[in-house]
Amino acid sequence: MVKICCIGAGYVGGPTMAVIALKCPSVEVAVVDISIPRINAWNSDQLPIYEPGLDDVVKQCRGKNLFFSTDVEKHVSEADIVFVSVNTPTKTRGLGAGKAADLTYWESAARMIADVSKSDKIVVEKSTVPVKTAEAIEKILTHNSKGINFQILSNPEFLAEGTAIQDLFKPDRVLIGGRETPEGLKAVKALKDVYAHWVPDERILTTNLWSAELSKLAANAFLAQRISSVNAMSALCEATGADVTQVSFAVGTDSRIGPKFLNASVGFGGSCFQKDILNLVYICECNGLPEVAEYWKQVIKINDYQKTRFVNRVVASMFNTVANKKVAILGFAFKKDTGDTRETPAIDVCKGLLGDKARLSIYDPQVTEDQIQRDLTMNKFDWDHPLHLQPMSPTTVKQVNVVWDAYEATKDAHAVCILTEWDEFKTLDFQKIYDNMQKPAFVFDGRNIINADKLREIGFIVYSIGKPLDAWLKDMPAGQKSNSTGGTPNTSRRPRGRPPGSKNKSKPPIIVTRDSPNALRAHVLEVSPGNDIVDNLAVYACRRSRGVCVLSGTGTIKNVTLRQPVAAPGGSVVTLHGQFKILFLSGTVLPPPVRRHVAILRKVRMQE
Ligand code: UDX
Ligand code: UDX
Repeated sequence: MVKICCIGAGYVGGPTMAVIALKCPSVEVAVVDISIPRINAWNSDQLPIYEPGLDDVVKQCRGKNLFFSTDVEKHVSEADIVFVSVNTPTKTRGLGAGKAADLTYWESAARMIADVSKSDKIVVEKSTVPVKTAEAIEKILTHNSKGINFQILSNPEFLAEGTAIQDLFKPDRVLIGGRETPEGLKAVKALKDVYAHWVPDERILTTNLWSAELSKLAANAFLAQRISSVNAMSALCEATGADVTQVSFAVGTDSRIGPKFLNASVGFGGSCFQKDILNLVYICECNGLPEVAEYWKQVIKINDYQKTRFVNRVVASMFNTVANKKVAILGFAFKKDTGDTRETPAIDVCKGLLGDKARLSIYDPQVTEDQIQRDLTMNKFDWDHPLHLQPMSPTTVKQVNVVWDAYEATKDAHAVCILTEWDEFKTLDFQKIYDNMQKPAFVFDGRNIINADKLREIGFIVYSIGKPLDAWLKDMPAGQKSNSTGGTPNTSRRPRGRPPGSKNKSKPPIIVTRDSPNALRAHVLEVSPGNDIVDNLAVYACRRSRGVCVLSGTGTIKNVTLRQPVAAPGGSVVTLHGQFKILFLSGTVLPPPVRRHVAILRKVRMQE
């Protein structure tokens, strides 16, 4: 009986091995992991990952030819084929920090395999690794082999979460890369024989090692690039009045392009796309190909831009401030049908809104409060370590409330942000939600899953990525017209400014708009202490006739040269009337909270 052992009982190792066990009753499969809780969960009724169909597969084979264990060394030493599917985080320090893969776990797995092996083994790379990792691993194994023959294969995983079981049952292809020596070819055949139990021969591709490793990075980079391409188009659609869904449909009907992976979204997430592209970028740089590196980097830049753009839309639409407003977040997982939050765009969107002092009420059908708090406090890239080695989050984010119901999340909220395309969000009772929300009630659909027309009929102000903009949004942040059709209060018609010294409890906003490439016009209604846009800032004004109004401050804005500032009477409480231009001089360094609000200003600054 062939024995397989897989090191790493994660999203990749767990489902892949379960399906191999199901499809190959004659093969004994052991999945091992250093994490005791994870293995305990695999041996319980509550599997550690949520994946449709996985429960069934595990139940059918567990205890027969599928075993989960923490006895790593025993199972490795007994196995004929050892899969390695351990974490490969992005390095956060040293050479290649922020890009290169940290192979610490991989290397220690290889050393352990060499240590405990008493018979020849095939070692299979399942983790995504940089090209040429196999060569490094091969060296570690052969230098410690005590005469044992190790063959390294690359067998990258192409399963997508949420459809993992289907992807494993009916893969587009299985890719096996190996050495082109007699021993290498024999090893490739041995692994091919395992997959041949259920995968048609023509779908099992064999290549050399490097091609297999690079194909994995390339496939993910191509997929991510499609999303960034359509997301870039979504920004253009909003600016021009085109509809991104119609554009992607029209584009996708070209059989050379195809319809898949052309859904505009708030951004792609998941454990692979960003990491793999960073890897690719690093490899290009190391091989003296800076132009190629730059090309792929742009895919990530657009993804970051899309998330920032979404946050800006939310804030700008809500009178340029979300401070203390309750914002409901529907969906936190990086896509539907998974509880996985790795690199989910929800993290950046939530952090952006929290940076503007929003209060968040988050609901996701599969993600726990503990996970959400961890994600919102964890440093970039720290997620990709075994759970017990991840830094504990010392604090929880107080402005975040995690609830178990979409209606609870949206109750009394000013806005709803849909960040994951869970099916259940499509059938929510939006009339009920609207009735229980503050008005005007906003919906920001980051996944284009709701029927915007229906919601507008109810009275919502709706933003859908890449779709023609609501009248309200089109005029925001200028905010001169209202969308009063659905009975939403006509807040844009509030009196422009109030007499100096008047009481202002509701903190009306400053609305900033660009009305020429060289200047910004600010319709300043009223500014009061604690208003977000000028948080911690004292406000100075110049008379309109001088053409310059400098909103600037003490403490947090550095290196600002004020042009003819007029100190506000009475210190920091100022009421401004009329229209003012805002000018930041070149070299101004805006602190992040201000920068988020006045992204447009930076353009002006550059032109000065
Ligand atoms: C993992 C990697 O994160 C990814 O980069 C790679 O492409 C494939 O393998 P995934 O299965 O989704 O993907 O990750 P995860 O769910 O984190 O599983 C990795 C498992 O390896 C964890 O359960 C961890 O405890 C285990 N592990 C890690 C070991 O058993 N030994 C180690 O030395 C390190
Ligand atoms: C991906 C690859 O698809 C898979 O082959 C590889 O093995 C691992 O990485 P996964 O990360 O599980 O799989 O999910 P995927 O379905 O590819 O989605 C990735 C992200 O892109 C998600 O955040 C998803 O919401 C987003 N996406 C996907 C879009 O924004 N638009 C689309 O049209 C498709």
